[in-house]
Amino acid sequence: METLEKAGKSIPNMCGKGICGECSLSVLQRAPLHRDLCLTDQEKAGNTTMMCCVSPQPGPRIGVGP
Ligand code: FES
Repeated sequence: METLEKAGKSIPNMCGKGICGECSLSVLQRAPLHRDLCLTDQEKAGNTTMMCCVSPQPGPRIGVGP
């Protein structure tokens, strides 16, 4: 989320703790570290959605969308 905000993107983020699901984004490429409490283990394994407030990218780049 910090990276997106630095790029001028405004992401709704009610809790900022991985609880509410408001900051959900689609993962377009690569896989984040899922540290949220919203997604099921199956959803985390699928790597199609992420909560950007608590899911850092372990590598240099990740692709996300609305
Ligand atoms: S802001 Fe609530 S899960 Fe990210």
